[in-house]
Amino acid sequence: MSFTILGTGSYAPEKIVTNDDMAKFVDTNDEWITERTGIKQRHYSTTEHTSDMAYQAAIRALEDANVKPEEIDMILCATITPENASPSVAIMVQKMIGADCPAMDISAACSGFIYVLDTAAGFFARKRVKKMLVIGAERLSKMLNWEDRATCVIFADGAGAVVLGEGDDYLACKLGAKGDDDIIKIPNHIGLSHYFEREAEEPYINMKGREVYKYAVNHMCMDIQDVLEQANLTQEDASFVIPHQANLRIIEAVAKKLSIPEERYCHNIEKYGNTSSASIPIMLDEMNKENKLKKGDYIVFCAVGGGLTTGASVIRWSK
Ligand code: UT7
Repeated sequence: MSFTILGTGSYAPEKIVTNDDMAKFVDTNDEWITERTGIKQRHYSTTEHTSDMAYQAAIRALEDANVKPEEIDMILCATITPENASPSVAIMVQKMIGADCPAMDISAACSGFIYVLDTAAGFFARKRVKKMLVIGAERLSKMLNWEDRATCVIFADGAGAVVLGEGDDYLACKLGAKGDDDIIKIPNHIGLSHYFEREAEEPYINMKGREVYKYAVNHMCMDIQDVLEQANLTQEDASFVIPHQANLRIIEAVAKKLSIPEERYCHNIEKYGNTSSASIPIMLDEMNKENKLKKGDYIVFCAVGGGLTTGASVIRWSK
């Protein structure tokens, strides 16, 4: 017993900032950002916390699934940008939707949604739940150094959610981690203790983009092939690949190396930028709401992120 996806939802804050807008306060331009990343615009929260965006995605997913909050047995949220250490984003969503169930956050950076889906699969396998709400939500704008053009043009805010029910549509998964706080680091709280002697770090996203890029292309290629094999599927069987939206060039490079036709790789990074753990469920929701998914489609998810974390999984679409 694993799960099936009953519904999807997503949300991005109203404020849209274009590449030209970014060029007003940092030394960049539309041409560089478009060519190097594919991003044309992104959404930034002006008033909403991560949990507010997670809530909006959650109620849309519940509506799409035709499931009431009281039917949800557990809520999991992938996030690296919770507004509080406690209560977690998942617990804030539990309160806002009026559910009565356990809830927790999971931190695995951009691979977070894949990690959280696999965690959810465990609860279904142990028959602890009948319905779950699984979310990826981020407000990365609060972690940005707005003077660092190499990162501030890339990361953005948003949330995506799925409602899961009992079923057999979760077919394969591979998770990985390679401890490295040099290539991508996102410091959190400053150690303001009387006794803590280490120097406080700047609380901003810090990334060696080139190195992450190479790692991402290699790992995504390897992981996609591995999970398809695990699911007894060929590359030709993959109806869609929904990669983490880190960089359009990464997606294109993966597509070139594998034999899955290029048009099956989904992307919307142009509109949203890199929303870390939210990017896969946002893309999935877009595909669902635009009626691009057919019953029986095989969808491959893959991601690489801070940690370094990696993950890929395969689901069958049965909605
Ligand atoms: O989601 C988490 C995982 N993260 C990723 O997967 C990110 C992976 N990496 C990437 O997507 C790319 O490496 C970036 C988009 C971050 C950077 O692209 P790049 O082609 O690797 O550029 P680069 O960092 O090698 O920089 C090339 C040049 C540099 O100038 P010089 O030294 O050649 O004169 C940068 O200073 O581009 C410059 N540059 C910019 N120029 C205009 C860097 N950022 C900008 C910018 N506007 N925003």
